[in-house]
Amino acid sequence: MPKTANTADTVKYLLPEDRIPKAWYNLQADLPKPLPPVLHPGTGKPIGPDDLAPLFPMALIGQEVSTEREIEIPEPVREVYRQWRPTPLFRARRLERELDTPARIYYKYEGVSPAGSHKPNTAVAQAFYNREAGVKRLATETGAGQWGSALAFAGTLFGLQVDVFMVKVSYQQKPYRRALMEAYGARCVASPSEETQSGRAILAKDPNSNGSLGIAISEAVEVAAQRGDTKYALGSVLNHVLMHQTVVGLEAIEQMAMADDYPDVLVGCTGGGSNFSGLVNPFIGAQLRGGKTVRVVAIEPAACPSLTRGKYAYDFGDTGHLTPLVKMHTLGSTFVPPGFHAGGLRYHGMAPLVSHLKELGLIEARAYHQVECFAAGVQFARSEGILPAPEANHAIKGAIDEALACKRDGVSRAILFNLCGHGHFDMQAYIDYFAGKLTDQSYSEAELAMALAGLPSVAA
Ligand SMILES: Cc1ncc(COP(=O)(O)O)c(C=O)c1O
Repeated sequence: MPKTANTADTVKYLLPEDRIPKAWYNLQADLPKPLPPVLHPGTGKPIGPDDLAPLFPMALIGQEVSTEREIEIPEPVREVYRQWRPTPLFRARRLERELDTPARIYYKYEGVSPAGSHKPNTAVAQAFYNREAGVKRLATETGAGQWGSALAFAGTLFGLQVDVFMVKVSYQQKPYRRALMEAYGARCVASPSEETQSGRAILAKDPNSNGSLGIAISEAVEVAAQRGDTKYALGSVLNHVLMHQTVVGLEAIEQMAMADDYPDVLVGCTGGGSNFSGLVNPFIGAQLRGGKTVRVVAIEPAACPSLTRGKYAYDFGDTGHLTPLVKMHTLGSTFVPPGFHAGGLRYHGMAPLVSHLKELGLIEARAYHQVECFAAGVQFARSEGILPAPEANHAIKGAIDEALACKRDGVSRAILFNLCGHGHFDMQAYIDYFAGKLTDQSYSEAELAMALAGLPSVAA
């Protein structure tokens, strides 16, 4: 354990390279109640490893269902992690002063990775296991472009060709993300595309479709299922993906100890749930094993409110209904969110593990509109200097509100949030925000009920 690095004005807590975790933490080992099974859509029965074998290498399928507490990180993966991990943990002293709050605000900064977010933590691992299994090509989807560029980066390191289906609205909003993927050697296609049956079906109904993560997932899964040399890689939602992200929280536990502190409140934004879980799962695990209790708050966009307004039910992970059925908070697999700028949060469902934690009462969820999140992100940039990804702005808004609650209540709490990525490729979003062009989208109950009416029926 590194020595305490705390002085009255310490701003960053840094760990040496030999403190990169040697194992990922698997929360499934400590859950008071196991996750509901994943079901085969045809039979309604739990699926087995063979059902997933066309899509994923066996090592990752094993991790998906493992209840081992620790899963060793292969040395070639740690070697790549070494380039940017351990990531810094910052104390946001200037933001605290700006808010005039007694709160102690900390953030773990994942934007220092080559692709600019937390996504390489799992991209590198997934590329490694696929290369080990002899796979030549990976197909994937991307919303914000962060995941696509992370997998493109990992693919080039491990000699894999990467095909990325990028949600059309993001493809148009973020040409530089596309160029980054191409610079890493990946192929990037706007989704829905003419390349797959699922894409063509959507375009036949709506030639101007903005696309969605659910649609892009269908396209990538279809390609992987049809080609012997190709597997599918997902940037969030699945248990193994969330587990790869726990390097974030494991490092943060050590860094909070360096600060002689422990979080009272943890905050993260949730799209599919991976950066949130990466930060919070090690803390929740410690709590479940008898450690300190921590309040955990998931922040999602009000324009895609799966955790706060979705139904906890079995649903498909994609719009084309090619995936198995998972129990999660969902808005319905045909829900197509509007083209708001936090592209990584435009997913109709939430990770089964995050959904389960919500049902168990271990986490809270809150939804914010995009304009107030951009205001929080700009306030953060003007005090801390880092320009956040639009997704991360949601976590910042959540953390600022927690800090203002401390001020109102006259108490000092430690708040730790995940600053999961920078926004250097998201400048069009900021340009639109400054031009007053961003709008907020709310839904009536009737609108939300429409996509939910199509939920698959599954025997209780
Ligand atoms: C920077 C960033 N944050 C958050 C997300 C949301 O994904 P997750 O909830 O899996 O972290 C994304 C997804 O693309 C992202 O790019």
